[in-house]
Amino acid sequence: NAATGPVALPNGRFLTIAHRGASAYRPEHSIPAYLLADEMGADYIELDLQMTKDRQLVVVHDSRLDRLAGIPDRVQDLTLDELKRIPYGGQFNEENPGLADQGYTGISFSGLTDVLSRFGSTVNYYIELKSPGNSGQMEEAVVSDLISFGIIGDDSTGTDAEGLPKVILQSFSERSLLRLHELRPDIPLIQLYPFKGNADLSSAAIRKLSGYASGVGIPASSAHPAFIDKLHGQGLDVHVFTVNDEDEIRGFIDMGTDGIFTDRPDLAVRLSQGN
Ligand code: G3P
Ligand code: CA
Repeated sequence: NAATGPVALPNGRFLTIAHRGASAYRPEHSIPAYLLADEMGADYIELDLQMTKDRQLVVVHDSRLDRLAGIPDRVQDLTLDELKRIPYGGQFNEENPGLADQGYTGISFSGLTDVLSRFGSTVNYYIELKSPGNSGQMEEAVVSDLISFGIIGDDSTGTDAEGLPKVILQSFSERSLLRLHELRPDIPLIQLYPFKGNADLSSAAIRKLSGYASGVGIPASSAHPAFIDKLHGQGLDVHVFTVNDEDEIRGFIDMGTDGIFTDRPDLAVRLSQGN
């Protein structure tokens, strides 16, 4: 049914997806990291979402706070207000003394709505649903927040001046993407795969994927030309994560991938412009 098939992403446009913001240079998932990604010309800012105890969406990669904030708590056991009071930027300073900034020590977690309210429609969003579970609450909450902040309409999704969709949603969970596609068939979806060896999908898997997704996101180590060609043959895009090395980025552009997740959006923007 063409009316409910997935949205096609624009052809021939290599996307720079700022992975957790310009996270090589500033604390991941922070407003300063997203501001820098935007200044650097990234096509998308990437956000990972987890759900809090009070069923709000918080922008954080891990389900536990040990790595970032040095505390053993789980995100799902804290309210959004509690998370917004937990500083985590100091860790970046310790790991990156050359890039440290005293101001980062005050950085704490953001709700999805904080990022949407800060950037509005001035950027494009590439949002991952982490640990979505089976309840459907996460999918409904993402769509509802995007509508509330005017990023998407009630039944249509806009594009930027270049024709790129304002929002792309991604998940490793097929169930979550199927649910999202049912809720909002106008939003492009990317199915993530954690391939360990060479990427591969059976014809049956690709047929199923073509029913709801605009493309796939795969680890850099798994990408190879035959897979890219196979997916392109079915109208599916291939995005690769996470690539920060100049030669590797150039290699993925030459291989014909459609975009990369990178912590260094300045580099990817420059290389994608052929410089
Ligand atoms: O979302 C694609 C890529 O970001 C997956 O890796 O672990 O950084 O979310 P991760
Ligand atoms: Ca991610």
